[in-house]
Amino acid sequence: MTTSDGGIAPGIDVIRAFPKVELHVHVEACLSAERIEELAARFGVPMLRAAESLFDYATLADFLTVYEWWCDLLRTTEIAEQLAYDTAAQLSEDGIVYAEVLCGPRYWTHIQREPLIEALAAGFERAHRDGHADCRLTPSISREQSPEWAMGLVEWLGTSGPSRVVGLGLDGNEELLGRTSPKFTEVYARAADLGFGRTAHAGESSGPEGVWDALEHLHLDRVDHGVRSIEDPALQEHLGEQEITLNVTPTSNVITGMYPDIDHHPVGPLIEAGVPVTINSDDPKAMKVTLSGEFAEVSRSLDWNLTDVEAATRRAIDAAFCDRDRAASLHRRIDAHMQGQQGRATQEDGNQ
Ligand code: ADE
Ligand code: ZN
Repeated sequence: MTTSDGGIAPGIDVIRAFPKVELHVHVEACLSAERIEELAARFGVPMLRAAESLFDYATLADFLTVYEWWCDLLRTTEIAEQLAYDTAAQLSEDGIVYAEVLCGPRYWTHIQREPLIEALAAGFERAHRDGHADCRLTPSISREQSPEWAMGLVEWLGTSGPSRVVGLGLDGNEELLGRTSPKFTEVYARAADLGFGRTAHAGESSGPEGVWDALEHLHLDRVDHGVRSIEDPALQEHLGEQEITLNVTPTSNVITGMYPDIDHHPVGPLIEAGVPVTINSDDPKAMKVTLSGEFAEVSRSLDWNLTDVEAATRRAIDAAFCDRDRAASLHRRIDAHMQGQQGRATQEDGNQ
């Protein structure tokens, strides 16, 4: 397809080969239906429903109920370590070179949060040594948890957490739980003091008021989702001015019923309004998506060419919680890839 600037919309293979960065992906949602079946059999737990339809949902509440069910099968630190390893391998296969991966200790009811986070970090470490994606961890508080629990997590992360932990997240269903950001103000302030990046799910199950609330009380560096900022021009202006990045996840928002399809998703209008936006998968296995697939869909819908994919990836690098040297090396990796693309294009022109 020809794009609006006369370029060619990149095909899925070109996107897959592009060295991508992802900032909004949940490790628990990288568990395949086959692995869930295997774990259910191992622990003698009947399947909630047939594996073929396990990942069919109509709403966020429905999705989170099923999420909780399969997470109950994640019962040992060995399973956690292997899931982290498999996640990094899966992301690599999709051409992702760096990812900040959310994990929700509340969902792992059989394991204490400290050994859980250590096991996930160990799995990511082993995977990186084997040449897979460089995955960092962003433990995520569930909005129904207490600030005392969350403060305990942050203090432990600051004193003895693995170095792969780079940030703090917050997720859950704001529609059901109400305005919960204020109760975590001190936790987020402490996380910032300890050098962690701050992100939170908002503007998905809440409207723009949820995003304002999270910005005011948690002083976020990034927002996961945040798409309902499209309903508030003053908020869009604020996000642009303050360079607060929205980690959007188009297909996930369609699956949970927020928008009828990608063509009605606000990713394009948000970018046009000057809001920094990155493209993400959110729940790869659990929503049957890949980051390359998301980029392909957005490229089709918005007439993007590879330069737009590059720009979104560079925005993700700039919003990443890793140190400056790592960010610079990711930018260099993209420079080299784009030079290779140019070299190929010149060679092809010469052959014609
Ligand atoms: N946990 C995993 N995916 C989520 C989402 N899309 N919204 C809220 N919590 C989540
Ligand atoms: Zn999410």
